[in-house]
Amino acid sequence: MSTTEQRVAIVTGGARGIGAATAVRLAAEGRAVAVLDLDEAACKDTVEKITAAGGTALAVGCDVSDAEQVEAAVARVAEELGAPTILVNNAGVLRDNLLFKMSESDWDTVMNVHLRGAFLMSRACQKHMVDAGFGRIVNLSSSSALGNRGQVNYSAAKAGLQGFTKTLAIELGKFGVTANAVAPGFIATDMTAATAARVGMGFEDFQKAAASQIPVQRVGRPEDIANAIAFFTGEEAGFVSGQVLYVAGGPLD
Ligand SMILES: NC(=O)c1ccc[n+]([C@@H]2O[C@H](COP(=O)([O-])OP(=O)(O)OC[C@H]3O[C@@H](n4cnc5c(N)ncnc54)[C@H](O)[C@@H]3O)[C@@H](O)[C@H]2O)c1
Repeated sequence: MSTTEQRVAIVTGGARGIGAATAVRLAAEGRAVAVLDLDEAACKDTVEKITAAGGTALAVGCDVSDAEQVEAAVARVAEELGAPTILVNNAGVLRDNLLFKMSESDWDTVMNVHLRGAFLMSRACQKHMVDAGFGRIVNLSSSSALGNRGQVNYSAAKAGLQGFTKTLAIELGKFGVTANAVAPGFIATDMTAATAARVGMGFEDFQKAAASQIPVQRVGRPEDIANAIAFFTGEEAGFVSGQVLYVAGGPLD
């Protein structure tokens, strides 16, 4: 494939938040984008935003933790848009609780969406990438990978995604495929709004409190993360692989 041909990207969890901003950004960079989320109808806004700006997008309903649905979704994208050679594993859920109150289902749900989902999506897309001799995989980790109270499930999944990313980079590098992780800090989305509600705080106050702890003194926007993802998925980023980039308004490690 020549680089002048339009590449096809899949963004999971693309209906809203970081995924929606990423889908819009990748489309603005000339990618055809499959906006994949649990409910196909929920992807409509993102798709319309892309097409209104002259881009190409397709809404795809799929639960990333379900192997059959993933295989069918990736096959549909290949059929309708072309071989997906850019994959952003962004779909995510929270089931926060302190360890002693955490149910097995809270644990399993988080592992299934983040880890099993990224595994299934990457496995389904890699054959298209290998055939094309080009691929870009970006996994959404989190600052919570470093440990966060009330998130033993989520922090384990997000740390797991970092190991997953590095191993993908090692296995797939010789096929022209890179794999990197973006680890956001606090980003204002429905996910963090739900956390504010859970701890009984207004979202504005919650954001202000978070911003006061961040060196750049503001919380992140979905576009801040889309920007980092756009870098990793770029044609020129072929020598950047196996990296974890914290995008958090200050240093984390
Ligand atoms: N918002 C933050 O502060 C923050 C910080 C660090 C990491 N992240 C990560 O970034 C990613 C996006 O977060 P967000 O804040 O935009 O979240 P969000 O809750 O606003 O959006 C997540 C999207 O994923 C979709 N989704 C959930 N389960 C799915 C499944 N099984 N199959 C397909 N789609 C599914 C949801 O329907 C939703 O549209 C997540 O992986 C999250 O863990 C977010």
